[in-house]
Amino acid sequence: MSWYGNFIRPILFRLDPEWVHNATIRGGELIGNRSFLLKQLDRCFRVNDPRLEMKVAGLKFSNPVGLAAGFDKNGKAVRGLSAFGFGSVEVGSVSARASEGNPRPRLFRLPKDEAIVVFYGVPNDGAAVVSERLSSAALEIPLGVNLVETNTGQEATADLVIEEFVTAAKKFVGVADYLTLSMNCPNTTAGGSVFDDSKVLGVLMQEYRNLTDLPPVFLKLTATSDNQRINGILEAVANHPFIKGFIFNLPSGKNYRLKTPQEELDRMPGALCGRPSREMMDDAVKTWFPLIDPSRHVIMGSGGIFTADDAYRKIKLGASLLQLYTALVFHGPGLIRKINEGLCERLEKDGYSHLSEAVGTGL
Ligand SMILES: Cc1cc2nc3c(=O)[nH]c(=O)nc-3n(C[C@H](O)[C@H](O)[C@H](O)COP(=O)(O)O)c2cc1C
Repeated sequence: MSWYGNFIRPILFRLDPEWVHNATIRGGELIGNRSFLLKQLDRCFRVNDPRLEMKVAGLKFSNPVGLAAGFDKNGKAVRGLSAFGFGSVEVGSVSARASEGNPRPRLFRLPKDEAIVVFYGVPNDGAAVVSERLSSAALEIPLGVNLVETNTGQEATADLVIEEFVTAAKKFVGVADYLTLSMNCPNTTAGGSVFDDSKVLGVLMQEYRNLTDLPPVFLKLTATSDNQRINGILEAVANHPFIKGFIFNLPSGKNYRLKTPQEELDRMPGALCGRPSREMMDDAVKTWFPLIDPSRHVIMGSGGIFTADDAYRKIKLGASLLQLYTALVFHGPGLIRKINEGLCERLEKDGYSHLSEAVGTGL
């Protein structure tokens, strides 16, 4: 086991998960202000290998492994976090208006399953504050901002949700390198969304089309292998070249075979992230890949990436980029380097000279 698994994790796992999360962000903030430390960390954690460089949506990702949304919700620690070897960092989810999120406790660890149950309900400082904070971030890797409707605890009309997504997007023009629209948040609307009606998604696309200098946009949707639903989404975005790809979100609930006893799970509201979700998220990539036009859209694969094999599997199933979160909690930041090095080894073994050659080649 690593220094993180042996020494750090046992201490962190005795503490309240949300406290640890906040402390990590504070640590990231502190590191971000010290350029000498940033350089040293980058030297330790970053794998510089041209075979891993991916060009997507006009952006250069020095490696495919990105930090998923939810870790740095308010964009406080992006500079510090980016030094741990990620190919991209996604901030958020951020809503047009600030939100407190759900009542605590709202974050739970499942060590037996290497999983986390999340019931945050997207607490965030709101688009104006986060945008102001990020405006001086000056990252060397692509900075994504994940947008979501404001969690008010009330059901919102399609018109209001569309207006919120437009307001929030405007705040990040010139700040974010790409936007991700979180359409199905498992913690606010139990994964339901006004955008489940493809016509509503079509209206949002029309509104976005009129925005000036809109950065590339990705849609984050509940993982689905339902061809009719997928085709509805692809039709809704077909005439909108600013949509560059898709990320899959986890469904609400904990519909997996788990080692954690049911009575413990019953005390944990929310959606499950981490190792048990891998297979289901892989299936979504596998189903979507043959249906998209890879010259227009890419898949950012996420869900249960813990090893280089997990990462490579998602790439072979059709993901061009990757995002992870839960594995960091269980295995620490050294994992990013390990995964990137492991990807290089696998490319070499399979005779590929670049990662892009492996995308969608199948298992
Ligand atoms: C604590 C936590 C908070 C999260 N918050 C968000 C969020 O605010 N917005 C979002 O789109 N996804 C959020 N996610 C989902 C992640 O971005 C990612 O899609 C998911 O965790 C799957 O990857 P993983 O198995 O590597 O964790 C969150 C995940 C975790 C573990």
